[in-house]
Amino acid sequence: METKVITMEDREPVDLTRLKEAGEILRRGGLVAFPTETVYGLGGNALDKEASQRIYAAKGRPSDNPLIVHIAEWEELSPLVQEVPELAKRLASLYWPGPMTLIFKKRGCIPYATSGGLDTVAIRMPSDPIARALIRSAGVPVAAPSANTSGRPSPTSAQHVLEDLRGAIDLVIDGGEVAVGLESTIVDLTGDVPTLLRPGAVTAEMLRRAIGTLALDPALTRPLAEGVHPKAPGMKYRHYAPRAEMTLVEGEREQVIQTINRLAAAAIAAGKKVGVIATDENRGAYRFGDIKWIGDRANEAEIAHNLFSVLRAFDADGVDLIYSESIPEHDLGYAIMNRMNKAAGHRHIKAEKTE
Ligand code: TXA
Ligand code: MG
Repeated sequence: METKVITMEDREPVDLTRLKEAGEILRRGGLVAFPTETVYGLGGNALDKEASQRIYAAKGRPSDNPLIVHIAEWEELSPLVQEVPELAKRLASLYWPGPMTLIFKKRGCIPYATSGGLDTVAIRMPSDPIARALIRSAGVPVAAPSANTSGRPSPTSAQHVLEDLRGAIDLVIDGGEVAVGLESTIVDLTGDVPTLLRPGAVTAEMLRRAIGTLALDPALTRPLAEGVHPKAPGMKYRHYAPRAEMTLVEGEREQVIQTINRLAAAAIAAGKKVGVIATDENRGAYRFGDIKWIGDRANEAEIAHNLFSVLRAFDADGVDLIYSESIPEHDLGYAIMNRMNKAAGHRHIKAEKTE
């Protein structure tokens, strides 16, 4: 199939006439990739089992990994879910529209093909004006995983989407680079205690301020043990992965730099192609390999924004090994390190003094 591209950089206002065709494609069961404030999504009609199956096929995604259903208005929530708990109302009033997904008990109108066989459903109200206008134009809730091939880093530009899905989907709406660059925060409100399933730009600190207790899914902080099922089925797959083997280096600044220089030099001497992920404060400190600057250490939003495109750039360069600095795990840094840890398959080392 030929994938059509519509370029729509303007958001204020969004040109609704240009979204008519996209809305029609969604209504009749086709697939449209579109920008959201987090990452690009691969949209299909969430109420249409076949559309969801097409999403899995296009991404090469296992069908037990459920999709997030996107809505544009608060009124669209209750027909999809069995109940709206008080905590959901509170969180939604603070962070919807925005980069937060909530898990609810689903109603029968959500096919199991969309919920990955679960009796729960993930719902998000995105804030990007193009995403909202598209959902309205479709007139149906839009199921949308990240618009990447399964296992690759999530797409933060239309270019990334086309790299992975050109020829496999009907349409891509090119709305330029996304704002956040990491997927939404996921909170499960169906159990006894609200549980964070995936950290994102609505941080654990922000959630705790809003609702008090928040449990962290064990899958967030350590690799899953054999046979353990994480609450968000997506967490069990190797995600956000560059093709190269990545290692995170932790420790004090000077020692991290020395260690990365030493490891990079040794790997290059052994004939490997090496990449280094470095923060802007350390410009000039690295001497070996293909060095990519991920942003200012003091500006976590910038690092979040750049992470996936840096990982994709290393794939394009064909590096064998990546050594990366780590950043502190609070606020947005927690979400960044969660993605970095997954990209690295939880491989990290402590920096050591050599001189
Ligand atoms: O920012 C985002 O959330 C983006 C944009 C497009 O909205 N979407 C996204 O979707 O990241 P995806 O499919 O790549 O990630 C969805 C995650 C998966 O880890 C999945 O397992 C989890 O959400 N999930 C979906 N439904 C769930 C449910 N009912 N219970 C637990 N986890 C669920
Ligand atoms: Mg994804």
